[in-house]
Amino acid sequence: MRTVAVIGAGTMGSGIAQVCVQTGWETRLYDAFPDSLEKGMFSISEFWRSGISRGKNTEEEVKIWSNKLVACDNLERALSGVNLVIEAVPERIDLKKSIFRKIEEFAPENAILATNTSGLRISEIASAVKNPERVVGMHFFNPVPIMKLLEVIKHDLASDDIVREVIEIGEKMGKTTIVVGDIPGFATSRLGVILGNEAIRMLAEGVASASDIDTAMKLGYRHPMGPLELSDLVGLDVRRDILNNLAESFDDSSYLPHPLLDRLVESGELGKKTGRGIYNWSEEGKSEREDL
Ligand SMILES: NC(=O)c1ccc[n+]([C@@H]2O[C@H](COP(=O)([O-])OP(=O)(O)OC[C@H]3O[C@@H](n4cnc5c(N)ncnc54)[C@H](O)[C@@H]3O)[C@@H](O)[C@H]2O)c1
Repeated sequence: MRTVAVIGAGTMGSGIAQVCVQTGWETRLYDAFPDSLEKGMFSISEFWRSGISRGKNTEEEVKIWSNKLVACDNLERALSGVNLVIEAVPERIDLKKSIFRKIEEFAPENAILATNTSGLRISEIASAVKNPERVVGMHFFNPVPIMKLLEVIKHDLASDDIVREVIEIGEKMGKTTIVVGDIPGFATSRLGVILGNEAIRMLAEGVASASDIDTAMKLGYRHPMGPLELSDLVGLDVRRDILNNLAESFDDSSYLPHPLLDRLVESGELGKKTGRGIYNWSEEGKSEREDL
């Protein structure tokens, strides 16, 4: 493994690219939108800058890492000669399939093609390319440099050798890997979004305030973070997409997003990344909203 391309420079893509660089690989970060690419690169350099000030990493390390990270606005250049591609574009099946068709066109034939989907069927994404055996799910968690878990998702046509290689890659990145079957929502998102959606329903019904619902799960059930705070951290748009995909995949309306979640996403209040979601977010942290 020498060179990785990460496609999509948002919350996840930038974190994945950061960890790839820190593992020692030449990494190209591509985004179709220049502003997003700039924002992704900025968030990586901010992470490193704050690491230096807290003594977590040295200036020397950051210099080496920075030299290995390339921002790309051209997909063909981003994919040339890479060993591994990790896709992290929004959670829409048509978008993911069209990106995989382009990836197949420009990436070397022996490159491993991974998707960071939170819950879409990997076999469906893999059906977009001629050699589906080289497609695998690599589901990282937010924030990627900190969260230890990597879900490796194996679909029926995936090559055992490639799955083994991906597990090794994940371990080199410092992750603990689990291998899961290709069932929408995998072992994590399915439970995670149900908890978040139900917490939003409880907030809308007036069961308790957002922070009290979160405290209930933190202190009563030993969750490190409450389900509402976590939804804001992940991104309400991301969570809504996962719920809609699960409702469609399982043909089960109980997965559908609560109307309050729909309303927040439609008004662009997506959580921490936009400064407002279920909570208000600022440099100082989060505060309760009075208007929900
Ligand atoms: N946010 C999370 O906590 C989380 C956790 C695990 C997995 N995921 C999954 O990771 C993926 C990305 O989620 P995210 O939270 O990083 O989303 P995001 O919205 O923060 O980032 C998506 C990025 O993709 C870019 N993009 C859009 N269309 C593109 C295209 N055609 N080509 C290249 N780039 C394009 C956008 O400009 C944006 O920068 C989704 O599949 C999501 O379900 C998210």
